[in-house]
Amino acid sequence: MLTSILLAALFVIIYTFLTINHDYWQKKGIPYRKPYPFFGNLFRVFIKKETYQMALHRFYKESEGHRFFGIFNLMIPTLLIRDVKTINHVLKTDFSRFSSRGLMVDYKRDPLSVNIFFMDGHLWKRSRELLRPGFKAGRLRSLVPLIEKSAKLVFEEGGEQRKCLEVKEFSKRFSAAVIVGPVLGLELSDAIVDAFVKHMESAFNVQGWQAIAVFLRLFVPKIALALGIKCVPQETEDFFKDVVEKVKAGREDGVIREDYIETIISSINGLSDHYEKSLLDAAMSGQFFIFALGGFETTTSTLIYSLHELARHQDVCEEARLEISRVLGGRRGGFTYDHLKEMVYLENVINEVLRLHPPITGYTRVCTATYRIPDSDIVLQPGDPVIIPVLSVQTDSKYFDQPEEFRPSRFDKPIVEGTFLPFALGPRNCLGMRLAMMQLKIVLAHILLNFDISLDITRTPEKLEFHPEYLIAAPLTDVWINFTPR
Ligand code: HEM
Repeated sequence: MLTSILLAALFVIIYTFLTINHDYWQKKGIPYRKPYPFFGNLFRVFIKKETYQMALHRFYKESEGHRFFGIFNLMIPTLLIRDVKTINHVLKTDFSRFSSRGLMVDYKRDPLSVNIFFMDGHLWKRSRELLRPGFKAGRLRSLVPLIEKSAKLVFEEGGEQRKCLEVKEFSKRFSAAVIVGPVLGLELSDAIVDAFVKHMESAFNVQGWQAIAVFLRLFVPKIALALGIKCVPQETEDFFKDVVEKVKAGREDGVIREDYIETIISSINGLSDHYEKSLLDAAMSGQFFIFALGGFETTTSTLIYSLHELARHQDVCEEARLEISRVLGGRRGGFTYDHLKEMVYLENVINEVLRLHPPITGYTRVCTATYRIPDSDIVLQPGDPVIIPVLSVQTDSKYFDQPEEFRPSRFDKPIVEGTFLPFALGPRNCLGMRLAMMQLKIVLAHILLNFDISLDITRTPEKLEFHPEYLIAAPLTDVWINFTPR
């Protein structure tokens, strides 16, 4: 009898704890989706009925006609922002109140979390100042030949014969090769590219318990860190620490190199404040890890979707080819930074791919000071998270005519601010945006000039579904494309 009472009491305590926030949105008078205990609104994500991207898109559609919608990321009430004016406030105008992603840095328990993406406050600001010069035109200019070399190295496999290739593998190898060579300055080899692909995949491709651990780390970092959960498995952490140590050791010869990591090392060495210097030096593995991570899966996904869209739209391929040939004066390579800048139509093609298939489909920001949302009664408190549904806004017919159509020419005209956000907006936007654009242009121009491409419809669907085990938008099925040398 006593055992039954104790069990019942325990059940009530656990249930109360797991549902403690469930009336949060009701009390604020904000329309919301009814949550489940613990899982909140992500139950279908955990039973793999849908991806997080699809869930967010569903909430957006369900809340048509409202400016805001309350959801529960696990047990955390999160405000879904639907209107573009407020999106611009959060990302740009009122950035000072939303400068955090709420991810938490922990030097001891999660060393790779010491990176610019996770950082907040002063440390983030200083890191951004130090890292930004590496993405300026002068530095990017010198990376162009190195990136072209990576594209050729990975893609020479096409040879003289018509080939049907699975482009997911090729795209991963290209993105990893850019990180290994032009960014890190390591000698390119199959072994090192394979090792990078393996470790980057382990960070993004999460299944079973690992998926729960990652969601905990993202949405309730305090609890995750107390439970010993890190942002990546231990093996991956060791890999990145080891690579950075080796690269640093190899730089003690005083030779100045052209790669990206040189920028980080020299900017840290140039600091006069010793405390700051040691802090940022300790963050080096984390900073490098986030470059690798931020640059790998996003670029890979964009390249796969680009090839898929191009293979289905021959008219777009032709127009892009004409532009590329004109810019290069009929040559088949030897790109320069200025050539790439002139490839405006190709840029529109990539933008249209990113509009329809943004790799990161929702951005979280955590309010850092009491904030009344303009033209509303909603007052956010410090610690309240908001989420911006990027994919949904970018495919909303309110902002884009026939949004499901792949039409690069829509970027000929200016786009309403806040409706096209693949790299986010404002002071915390993507640091690697220009590098990413550059590498995508180089590899796509290289492929279009040298090959006719078409979809292998026997093995590849016309519409690609999201992969439920990836943290960012990645296609579920393999993507097979015919490459015929021109
Ligand atoms: C197509 C490729 C890429 C896309 C679509 C992309 C997208 C994004 C987005 C949306 C954010 C901001 C997320 C948020 O606001 O919560 C971001 C941040 C960031 N990205 Fe990228 N990214 C790409 C490639 C790269 C590359 C190649 C690098 C570096 C090598 C990079 C480095 C970063 C860094 C360091 C941040 C954090 C910036 C900060 O917090 O101050 N990204 N990226």
